[in-house]
Amino acid sequence: MSKKTKLIVGNWKMNPATSREAKSLYLSIKKKAISLKKIKTVICPPIIWLGDLNHRSIKNLALGVQDVSLEKGIGPYTGSISAKMVSYSTAEYILIGHSERRELGDTDEVINQKLKNSLEEGLIPILCVGEKVRDQRGDYLEVLTSQLVKALSGIKKNQLKNLVIAYEPVWAIGNKSTGVDTPEDFLHNSIFIRKVISKIVGGDIARSISVLYGGSVNEKNAVSFLILGQADGLLIGRASLEADKFKQILIQANNI
Ligand code: PGA
Repeated sequence: MSKKTKLIVGNWKMNPATSREAKSLYLSIKKKAISLKKIKTVICPPIIWLGDLNHRSIKNLALGVQDVSLEKGIGPYTGSISAKMVSYSTAEYILIGHSERRELGDTDEVINQKLKNSLEEGLIPILCVGEKVRDQRGDYLEVLTSQLVKALSGIKKNQLKNLVIAYEPVWAIGNKSTGVDTPEDFLHNSIFIRKVISKIVGGDIARSISVLYGGSVNEKNAVSFLILGQADGLLIGRASLEADKFKQILIQANNI
């Protein structure tokens, strides 16, 4: 398998509170990120700050959004932002099916539609999957299979070349996390994910997509997921809000 450029994604969630803080965090990360040629950094700020960042297309630094409307194009949908609108913004990536959105009501069918909308607009989706509970019998693998099969239903093979999957066990995410996955288990799960994708759309796509790890990644455990876990990248929440920690992770990833 050819070596993929590692993708390090920062998901700022509903942070920070002000435009000034968003700009300062972005600029601090940008300065470092553009000098690290072996990785690609993606920052997903809240949409309200997207324009304020004055981002210009740079090869190894991109922006993404954290969610998108179920509706296409434009129309009378108060509070919604469509994939089409995102495609005219400075964002290229789009998180789909994050567990925090699933918790707020995104079903597999909704996620499937959002994925289709994003692909139609030429955006790069980062599809998040992950189980709520890890059991020893492996029942959680059924959850992953079902999330993948339903999310990818009806999507053409040739649309999936750029697809990114983020494997994020829900129990490992955020302040309420009860632990963090091990690199060994991540590797096992990422192979499983590729097998499922291979069955749905074939081996070529399964090999070409990137599979990231997410859930309590920090500057101390990031390298182990990238080396031992052979992750194609990382999806980072809390540690992406602290410029120094995030930059440390970027530097480590670039040095691998
Ligand atoms: P965390 O969040 O790094 O704070 O656990 C990860 C995520 O929600 O993507």
